[in-house]
Amino acid sequence: MINQKYLKIIFAALAILLLLVIVYVFQSMQDKEVKERPALRELAHKEGFYIGAAVNADYLDKDGLYRKTLDREVNMVTAENEMKFDVIHPEKYRYDFSKADKIVDFALKNRQKVRGHTLVWFHRIPEWLKKGRFSRDEMKLILKNHIQTVVGRYRGQVYAWDVVNEALNEDGSLRDSIWLRTIGPEYIPLAFKWAHEADPNALLFYNDYGIEGMNPKSNALYERLKQYKMNHVPIDGVGYQMHSWINRAIDFHDLKKSIDRLGGLGLQVQVTELDIGTAEPVQSSQSAKAKKQADYYAGALRTCLSSKACTAFVMWGITDKYTFRNKVEKPLIFDGTYKPKKSYWALFSTLENKKIEK
Ligand code: XIL
Repeated sequence: MINQKYLKIIFAALAILLLLVIVYVFQSMQDKEVKERPALRELAHKEGFYIGAAVNADYLDKDGLYRKTLDREVNMVTAENEMKFDVIHPEKYRYDFSKADKIVDFALKNRQKVRGHTLVWFHRIPEWLKKGRFSRDEMKLILKNHIQTVVGRYRGQVYAWDVVNEALNEDGSLRDSIWLRTIGPEYIPLAFKWAHEADPNALLFYNDYGIEGMNPKSNALYERLKQYKMNHVPIDGVGYQMHSWINRAIDFHDLKKSIDRLGGLGLQVQVTELDIGTAEPVQSSQSAKAKKQADYYAGALRTCLSSKACTAFVMWGITDKYTFRNKVEKPLIFDGTYKPKKSYWALFSTLENKKIEK
């Protein structure tokens, strides 16, 4: 009897031990695999190129694997929300840099470039500004102070700013916003001028969605930027957001054409917010969707790399765990457990094969 009882205990102990050994071996195989493959940022760096992700200060605080993955894989980060007007300038005479500082500190520690996002947008206007009934001159002063305080604080630390975000409608006309209503269309060139004064070395971008193809919006943007360039507005580039879906195929020829067209004005292009949703079409298998997403990521990166003007490729996050989109979209390159997806490997081999014809 006693013997049998002991035997059971020994068996249970052995089973637990075996399980622990299996978990340990599996974990170290994974760690080894991660250590042995070059990171995306190393492959990009060799080409003088930036591969990036939007980051969120709250997740940086609480999730070690999030930090580790970002540190390892990307050489550029964008503040997802922490530099938006309402967050960084919540009251007329009070700025709150705490969260933005966390991102900038993280990036500098990890030798990553920072994209500041975003100084002027129709969204994220704080209540004090919405309700202030300020005159045109007051609004100009508020915007100038805002831009120069924020850009000034990170002078020499933020490599590129999305100075103006989403200022155009689909038809290319100027979108209604508190800035357009109070200051008029000059708010755009003025914002670039003020940002340039605050940090003459920072690259200054116009950022928008729906401009990566050849369409009325991108045509109007092109004409507008041509004027700005003629008038010496200090603008360095255009950000293509590119929040996308696998079932809305992008025309890579048009993508290249639109990048090169802006390149012709002496402007850079950066892909700034790419993520590719996979929720539809529902009838496809998970693996077919993953493959489609991977092809899409690879095609976008290959097109960017093939144009001299395209200097960075930034995704709107790194893991499906924290996408801002509906979780079912699984739009990013690491899954919710930080395992690299097919889309990761597609970027990896695109960079590794150096299909770069610059
Ligand atoms: C999004 C953030 O990812 C979300 O966390 C937030 O709730 C809303 O804004 N275009 C932009 C980004 O320029 O700033 C937006 O970011 C996504 C769309």
